[in-house]
Amino acid sequence: MQIRFVANRPSGSHALIVPIAGSDRSAYEAFGGEQAAVLGAARLQRFDGEAGGVAEAYVAADNGGARRLLLVGTGSPGDENAEKLGGTAVGRLITSGETTAVIDLSGSGFSPDGAAKVALASALRGWRYDRYRTKLKDKQKVTLTEVVIVGAPPEAEARWTERYQAVLDGVALTRELVTEPANIIYPESFVERCRSAMVGSGLEIEVLDRPAMEQLGMGALLGVSLGSAREPQLLIMKWNGGAAGAAPLTFIGKGVTFDTGGISIKPAAGMESMKWDMGGAGAVAGAMLAIAKRKAKANVIGICGLVENMPDGKAQRPGDVVTSMSGQTIEVINTDAEGRLVLGDALTYAQRTYGSKLIVDLATLTGAMVISLGHEYGGVFANDDGLANDLLAAGAASGDKLWRMPLGEAYDRLIDSPIADIKNVGPREGGSITAAQFLQRFVDEGVKWAHLDVAGVVWSDKPSTTHEKGATGFGVRLLDQLVEATAEA
Ligand code: BES
Ligand code: MN
Ligand code: ZN
Repeated sequence: MQIRFVANRPSGSHALIVPIAGSDRSAYEAFGGEQAAVLGAARLQRFDGEAGGVAEAYVAADNGGARRLLLVGTGSPGDENAEKLGGTAVGRLITSGETTAVIDLSGSGFSPDGAAKVALASALRGWRYDRYRTKLKDKQKVTLTEVVIVGAPPEAEARWTERYQAVLDGVALTRELVTEPANIIYPESFVERCRSAMVGSGLEIEVLDRPAMEQLGMGALLGVSLGSAREPQLLIMKWNGGAAGAAPLTFIGKGVTFDTGGISIKPAAGMESMKWDMGGAGAVAGAMLAIAKRKAKANVIGICGLVENMPDGKAQRPGDVVTSMSGQTIEVINTDAEGRLVLGDALTYAQRTYGSKLIVDLATLTGAMVISLGHEYGGVFANDDGLANDLLAAGAASGDKLWRMPLGEAYDRLIDSPIADIKNVGPREGGSITAAQFLQRFVDEGVKWAHLDVAGVVWSDKPSTTHEKGATGFGVRLLDQLVEATAEA
């Protein structure tokens, strides 16, 4: 989707979108001679400017033909529903036959950031991945190619180009990685996809292959990968935009490119959704791209633990004991609790190699998280209240909402093993919390760490303001906002 900011409404064929802030009628005055007809159309559709509401009308176009007019409700004046405006407009028009949407913000009171968010939401809602849909009927095909924003405050365009366009590119990368099936995106091709998206971004990329990880003693991560024909990879992306030598903020993502459960195999129904078990790694890659593209003034490292979890004659078995890079031994009770095995070694690697003292991991870690919070919030577990609060604030500001979950000694005891230092599962109850406790065993004294269980939010069965059905891109806007509000502040 092309985004343009212009001063005046263009001529030529387009749909016109006008924001309406609640039941205030003054916005209708701009329709001049057509005011009564437009107001009448709004009334017939019981539209009263409520946030996210839409009414359609047709007005005369300059060439004498008809022009589609969308009235989009923003509830009240101000930025609060900026994203609803852009996203709703594009959602309605994307396959409508219109090629250009003109959103007229004149007199609507959006700040520069609000107007830039109208652009961001428009572009996010316009993202699609139709690569494998070769038989789409004409009416199902995307027609909208351009959103033109008129009458925004002058600083809005710079805010868009300097910040949100980068965020959009990051979200797009994440969504692409998450959407691709597991025969296309596996550890090595995940790395390749990132490399090509990151060319010229200034990100420094390093990749550890299996022999390198063996050398480091990453027995937990490598154990998960034993049953797969695909080679595991540890992808490291570095952005040095801050003061030289300043300790890096570190993001770590679970990148299980397909999770069959391994020998503790999952039921067939719904297993296809486990192609998105790399959603945490996808978010880390997308966030790194976003912060690099907007040249964030911060030092940030992104690490993706990439493996495929398959059953096979070579796969690890329930009851196996593996030795992690930290030296801690793990009894693998259930091979389907694989994400924590991958992350444990990635956590140790980050702390030992980069001296990371501030770590946020993202993982589609537990089904129990989806039971707890559904699809609205990701769960945040943290050993530090300041970091937890920064994340909650970044979540609220970015729209990638988080809800805090507990950690504690009593939960930790539930993963003691009779044969090794830890077992990889606790009881069914509190399954997301014991998974987080497992990760915490790999966090060194004095390190601030938060774990985001994003199992319920990286994929959506229904469209929303900012996404189509499918990959949401959750985490990119959140991490980008966290960097802006903390590391760059
Ligand atoms: N990737 C899954 C978690 C998951 C399940 C994410 C459903 C999204 C939807 C994870 O690897 C897993 O299988 N977890 C198990 C843990 C259990 C064996 C302790 C789970 O949640 O059932
Ligand atoms: Mn699993
Ligand atoms: Zn998994």
